Amino acid sequence: MIRVLFVCLGNICRSPMAEAVFRHMVAESGLADQIEVDSAGLGGWHTGDRPHRGTLGLLKANAIPHDYLRARQINTGDFTAFTYIVCMDNENLDGLKRLAPQAGNISMLLDYAREQEEREVEDPYYTGRFEHVYQLVELGCKGLLEKICRDHGIIRKKEQQM
Ligand code: 4NP
Repeated sequence: MIRVLFVCLGNICRSPMAEAVFRHMVAESGLADQIEVDSAGLGGWHTGDRPHRGTLGLLKANAIPHDYLRARQINTGDFTAFTYIVCMDNENLDGLKRLAPQAGNISMLLDYAREQEEREVEDPYYTGRFEHVYQLVELGCKGLLEKICRDHGIIRKKEQQM
């Protein structure tokens, strides 16, 4: 099983959005039996909470299932349990490297969207730009799924519709 963990600061805005979007893409591509998806926050302030209403609004508007999402904090076991740990910005990257200096499986979501000028997914908790963040998340997730399929020699049964 290939396991993907999305990480942001609070696990209520960006990483649960990426989890839901990516899980939906994986399912639409017929790969749910090969790729598992989760998300976590570097901070634990929102543990057990549903996503921010801005994230929920975008997921609803795009018909992406989201009822299962609950925030949790990352733990050291995650660095070995997950194949890919994908964070949102440079601050997340620094935080993850402090927790696991040896980990070789950490990347940023927009590493997989090179055609996109922005390199970090900004925090909509502060900027309020949830719609813009959703577009970046979609682009990054598409590129990430292509990368995973290349890395693991996976031929997609169905092309995703997104
Ligand atoms: P996120 O946004 O990292 O995209 O979930 C944040 C949510 C909550 C907080 C910070 C960022 N907070 O400080 O509570």
